[in-house]
Amino acid sequence: MQLKIYKNYQSLSAHISDEMIALIKHKPNAVICCASGDTPRLTCQLFAEKATTQKIDTSKFTFIGLDEWVGIPSDNEGSCRYFFDSLVIKPLQLATSQFHFFNALSNDVVAECKTMDKFITDKGGIDLMIVGIGMNGHIGFNEPGVSFDNYSHFIQLDATTITVGQKYFKDNVSLDKGITIGLQHLVESKEVILIANGLKKAAVIKTAVEGGLSNSFPATIIQKHPTGVVAIDEEAASLLSR
Ligand code: GLP
Repeated sequence: MQLKIYKNYQSLSAHISDEMIALIKHKPNAVICCASGDTPRLTCQLFAEKATTQKIDTSKFTFIGLDEWVGIPSDNEGSCRYFFDSLVIKPLQLATSQFHFFNALSNDVVAECKTMDKFITDKGGIDLMIVGIGMNGHIGFNEPGVSFDNYSHFIQLDATTITVGQKYFKDNVSLDKGITIGLQHLVESKEVILIANGLKKAAVIKTAVEGGLSNSFPATIIQKHPTGVVAIDEEAASLLSR
């Protein structure tokens, strides 16, 4: 696992968006899977801006959403789908064949998971995963106690996730279950970057990087990935002992 520390949120986001651009330049049909949330917001925004201003051919790459709140419609601005639609899909005018997201309103979530897994397999696997970390150490909706061997699955959300998750929504919503790409996908992804910023993430980053590998703190899986990168700002790095 490699640790990369940037001065602040802006420089972290600038670097990660550059990595996305570099990948697409090198491999136009790359498959990128990304988390939504506060952390990757600027990365996604810069990625779309840079791809446009640098006239990058974005017509062949594939974009996959990491997770979704079950039962939350895509036109709710707290949904992961809404995040990607407004920051990536619409600005880059991606064709429908170029992206795939979990349908949060599906009445067959098991089928949703199978469809996602097949989509990833048919695309030849994920080239780059950009993930965040929750305040309970989750990645996507891989909550504490999750099996490291899971592919896509749906899960009862942890109490911390339900409480913290309200920050994405204007009005109070009832959050209960999540649907997510699994940690086995992460281990199999060619590259993985876990990003975090701010003092509030310092403690969870310390456990992810320096704690023992354990499914009680899912983000420790990054230690298991052969080329895993933890890219954080100085504030999120502030409790690390190295
Ligand atoms: C959310 C999402 C994750 C996200 C994480 C951190 O609940 N399920 O995919 O990475 O929690 O979010 P944020 O970047 O807003 O801190």
